[in-house]
Formats: sequence, structure tokens, C-alpha cells
Amino acid sequence: MFAIRTSHVLCFVFSCSQSFASLGSFWHISDLHWDPTYTVTDNPDRVCASNGGRPVPNAGKFGHYLCDSPWDLINSSIYAMKDILPDPDFIIWTGDDTPHVPNEQLGEEAVLSIIGNITHLIKLVFPDTKVYSALGNHDYHPKNQFPAEQNNIYERTAQLWQDWLEPDSQLTFRTGGYYTEKLLNRTGHRVLVLNTNLHYDQNKATETMDDPAGQFSWVDQILTSAASNNEKVYIVGHVPPGYFEKKRHKPWFRPNFNRRYLDLIQRHHGVIAGQFFGHHHTDTFRMFYDPDGAESPISVMFLAPGVTPWKTTLPGVPDGANNPGIRVFEYDTSTLLVKDTVTYYLNLTHANIARARWEKEYRLTEAFQVADASPSSMHRVLELMASDRCYLQRYYDYNSVSYDRSACDHTCRVDHVCSAREVDFDRYERCLETEGAPPPGHALTPLLLSAAFSLVWASQ
Ligand SMILES: *[C@@H]1O[C@H](CO)[C@@H](O)[C@H](O)[C@H]1NC(C)=O
Ligand SMILES: *[C@@H]1O[C@H](CO)[C@@H](O)[C@H](O)[C@H]1NC(C)=O
Ligand SMILES: *[C@@H]1O[C@H](CO)[C@@H](O)[C@H](O)[C@H]1NC(C)=O
Ligand SMILES: *[C@@H]1O[C@H](CO)[C@@H](O)[C@H](O)[C@H]1NC(C)=O
Ligand SMILES: [Zn+2]
Ligand SMILES: [Zn+2]
Repeated sequence: MFAIRTSHVLCFVFSCSQSFASLGSFWHISDLHWDPTYTVTDNPDRVCASNGGRPVPNAGKFGHYLCDSPWDLINSSIYAMKDILPDPDFIIWTGDDTPHVPNEQLGEEAVLSIIGNITHLIKLVFPDTKVYSALGNHDYHPKNQFPAEQNNIYERTAQLWQDWLEPDSQLTFRTGGYYTEKLLNRTGHRVLVLNTNLHYDQNKATETMDDPAGQFSWVDQILTSAASNNEKVYIVGHVPPGYFEKKRHKPWFRPNFNRRYLDLIQRHHGVIAGQFFGHHHTDTFRMFYDPDGAESPISVMFLAPGVTPWKTTLPGVPDGANNPGIRVFEYDTSTLLVKDTVTYYLNLTHANIARARWEKEYRLTEAFQVADASPSSMHRVLELMASDRCYLQRYYDYNSVSYDRSACDHTCRVDHVCSAREVDFDRYERCLETEGAPPPGHALTPLLLSAAFSLVWASQ
């Protein structure tokens, strides 16, 4: 009896320390959007060029919800990372460095110099850390117009990032803005950094192409050989497939590109351990399901909040600002399974009144009572949001990084649940119908109106 109990205890202790020994962590930051014109002044029209014509009262040192980031906010966010987790295994940085201003106020050199400034700061603060860096739709001039071939911006950015890129990565980056390498040079682990700006519906340069810069067939080939080499893969990018959760019927990808991306994930999910994207400036996630076994979750895309607090000018989004957010992922260093996320934020209002205090906002497993951040756990989070008003509200508070704490009503619930559940365009529309079935006598006019509004162009 005693011997059995002893060995039982020993076994337990052994497996326990095993699982702790393999926990690693990395940072994910996104959408820093530096506005070099930001100035603290009493003239509400003179604070920042990124205000979209909106007057900016009471501008403070660390920024304003109507503006992109001042340098003080950018600097504060990178030093906060150093303070909170000074030695991450690596950093994922998913782009959008320049301000939301008309093209005429920027230029190729201005864009490159802004990318250079932020690159320089990250290298200064994290000199020995590997950074996996993706281009955002604002990291080109004119914005969004990424070409499917060699150009000066891919070339010069490859130079700015050369310490972070393996020689082979520099080659594909120069021709298509994407690359792959072994994650931290470890056998069995791989990262793919994509240039999904080529699939953005605002990009006229790739409008008529089937597979801009051959990126989809390249991903297919890399993931196929990853499977035969027993590799696990992280996918990193800026513009995500699927829909914007804060505006009904608002996707980013062209329909053919959206289908192709989803198809790649469904065919190769066995090797994909996580997808990390930005662009929304909000904190949310996207589920991927097995097309054959309904409801069987196969992959998750995590969308990291932005550092910029900028309130979107997208028509139809009532109050689309956010507090600056940064995120730590905890992962299993042998399987790459995502174990948890810890999101930190700056209460911008408080920062301007008192001081810049970056605080923990929430830990995923605590806030949603799940075991980890696996596809099945994230499916559970989604089902909690869909069925329990308290969890829905919690998710919604975090969605704007605790900026908008108004109640998430029926329409809000449908928008958030359906965009998280369905990346596919047709299935999203069906979800709206199923989840949103209006109560008897409810007028359909608002739905039609919002569909009409979604035709209006704006950028994120
Ligand atoms: C950046 O932040 C650090 C840490 O708060 C501070 O010591 C430094 O002076 C700041 N640099 C600039 C240029 O504001
Ligand atoms: C940004 O980089 C340019 C050179 O490209 C330099 O002149 C400028 O001082 C930098 N600004 C900051 C805030 O680092
Ligand atoms: C990666 O590992 C290989 C051996 O497995 C080594 O030759 C190479 O120098 C390493 N590269 C880096 C950047 O450490
Ligand atoms: C942010 O700070 C302001 C001012 O101190 C406060 O009113 C607000 O409740 C804070 N927000 C959060 C989420 O703590
Ligand atoms: Zn952005
Ligand atoms: Zn973007």
C-alpha cells in the first residue's frame, strides 16, 4: 500500500514539473501607428494630423482617443514590455506603423523612416531578442497598394529587419513581403510570416490576380513539407480573413482570397499550432472548424489589440476607440500549443492625468474558466459568450481593451459571436440569420441600412 502511494505521489510530482519546465512565453504587439505630428496644445484642431477632421480637446502627453500614438506612447509601450517580461523567447510584431492620414501627407521615405524608427526602438530595448515582423497595410505608400513583386519598400524593409531575418527569408521578403524559417532555429518548429495585404480588398495592385506573389501556393508547399518533417507551425500576419466584429457585413479579404485562406487552414490544421494577426485594433479571436465534422474546432486565430487608441472613422462604428494593449502568450515549448494569454493595457485617461501605468487587464484561463487557449477551449469561450450575458459582457469589455464598457446588446452579441465563429462569408451570413432571428414584429430596416453603409470605404 505504502509503496504504491509513494510511487503515485512521485509520479504526480514528476509529471507536474515536466509540464512547468516546458512553458515558454512571447510578446505579441500590433498596430503602433506613430503619428509624428502629435502635439499637446490647447488648439483642438492642431493636436494631430490623424484626427480625421475631428476636434481634439484636452490632449495629453500619452495620446488621445481621436489620434494615433505620440512617440511617448510608443516608447512607453516598448519599455512596459521590458518591465513586465524582459526576456521573452521571441516577439511577434504585426505591423501598421504609420498614422491614419491621407497619402499626400506621407510618402515612401516618410513610411520607411517611421518603420525604421520603431524598428530601432525595439532593437534598442530588446537587443538580443528574435523578432518576427509582418507588414501592415499602412506600411506601404500609397497605403494598401502592396505589389506582388520586388519594390523599394520590400527591399529597404528587409534591410531594416536584416538582423531578424535568415538569409532565405530575406530573399522571399524582397519579392513578396513574406517569409518562413525555423522558429528560434529549432528543429520541428516553424514560423510563417505572411503578407496578407496582398489579399486586402483595398489593394488595387492585386485585384485581378489569382494568387498574388504566389503566396498561397507557397504556403501550401511549406505546410505540406512541414507535415512530412513533423513540424509545428505558427502563422503570423496583419490583415485577417473573416469579418470585423464591430461592423456587420465588413470583411477585409476579397472573397476568392478568403476562401483560399480558409481552405489552407482546413487542409493543414494538423501542423498549425496558432495564428497571430492584428489590424482590428481590438482584442478578439477567430475560430476555424473541420468542414466535415460540424462544430469540431481545428484552429484559432488570435487578434491582438493595438497600441494606438485611435477611434476608427469607419462609418457605422459608433465608438471604435480602444485603450493601448500589449499581450504575452504562454506556450508549450515542445508542442507549441498555446496555453494562455495575458493582456496588459494602459488606461490612457489615467496616464494623462497621473502617470503611465501599464496593468494586467486579464488572463484568459482565469477570466473565462478554461484550461488553456487550445481550439477546443476557445470554442468553449465562444459558446460562453453566445449563451451567457456575463461572459459576453466580459469579452466585450476586453474587446476595446476596457475603453467602451457599455452594455453589449442583442445586435452586438450577434455581430461578435458570428464574426468569431465564421470566417467563411456564406456561413457568416447564415449565422446572422440563425443568431439574429429578430423577435416577431421587429422591423428589418436597420439591417438593410447597415448593409448599405458597409459599401462605404474606410480603412483600419
Ligand atoms: C522612454 O521610456 C523610458 C522608460 O519609461 C524612459 O526612461 C525614457 O526617457 C523614454 N524615452 C523617451 C525618448 O521618451
Ligand atoms: C526617426 O528616424 C529618422 C531617420 O530616419 C531620424 O532623423 C529621427 O530622429 C528619428 N526619430 C525618432 C523619434 O527616433
Ligand atoms: C541554426 O542552426 C544551424 C544548425 O542546426 C546552424 O548551422 C546555424 O548557424 C543556426 N543559425 C542561427 C542564426 O543561429
Ligand atoms: C481609467 O481611468 C479613469 C480616470 O482615472 C477612470 O475613470 C476609469 O474608470 C478607468 N478605467 C478603467 C477600465 O479602469
Ligand atoms: Zn492598424
Ligand atoms: Zn491594418
